[in-house]
Amino acid sequence: MPERKIAKQKTVVDIQKLYSDKRKITVLTAYDYPFARIMDEAGIDMILVGDSVGSTVAGYDTTLPVTMEEMLYHTRAVVRGSRTALIITDMPFMSYQADVRDACINAGRLIKEGGAHAVKIEGGVNMASTIAAIVNMDVPVVGHIGLTPQSIHRMGGYKVQGRKGEQASQLLADAKAVEAAGAFALVLEGIPASLAQQITQSINIPTIGIGAGAECSGQVLVIHDILGLCEKYSPKFVKRYADVAQIIRTSVDSYITEVRDGSFPSEEHSFK
Ligand code: KIV
Repeated sequence: MPERKIAKQKTVVDIQKLYSDKRKITVLTAYDYPFARIMDEAGIDMILVGDSVGSTVAGYDTTLPVTMEEMLYHTRAVVRGSRTALIITDMPFMSYQADVRDACINAGRLIKEGGAHAVKIEGGVNMASTIAAIVNMDVPVVGHIGLTPQSIHRMGGYKVQGRKGEQASQLLADAKAVEAAGAFALVLEGIPASLAQQITQSINIPTIGIGAGAECSGQVLVIHDILGLCEKYSPKFVKRYADVAQIIRTSVDSYITEVRDGSFPSEEHSFK
């Protein structure tokens, strides 16, 4: 009888083990079934159903318009595509800021109706009680501090955070508050590498960096950025591993040409 490989679903305990073994944690965003399936098969540790779906897929200028219903739809598609990766879903703007009760209900929906394994919340000291309430319902939470896209209007744009001493101390306090509230990991976005290193050394949960240097416990990037699908703007911290937009363009050009000149469909692609 051939041996059947059974994929093992990763849990927060596996992520904690990677951290305690000092192994780097790998995270990418995904918003649909095919991307989730491919990165899951490649062995990614965690998939983030990011509210970046608003800009990468829906074409909004910011993440602010993204709704709970949209996050649920994309989470379900990702969950169907993945067998082993831990799935984290972003709580969208206004699903948790106004009221702790709303936050708990919406976090519960992402787990129960979406199938996510954990939720992510932007904010530090100001969100500590909300994080604690969600963790208290046994829903694992990932924090997110630094350049938090849902605070774009307060920050005055997508700017590196924590360059000044006062801001840096606030971010350190934010990291400690998120840890104390019970989050199992913390995303550090758009902060100087030295500050990210200091935060990573000051807390006992893994830090996942994006534009935060190499000393974090793991890294996350937006899949559309690394594949060259977001051509409008590419931040300095993004490494482009492929130019998929160009592949799509060439393929569509060939299709249009072949349909117009009659070489597609050929006999090979027709029924007898
Ligand atoms: O929405 C997202 O993709 C994110 C990552 C950039 C961390 O929050």
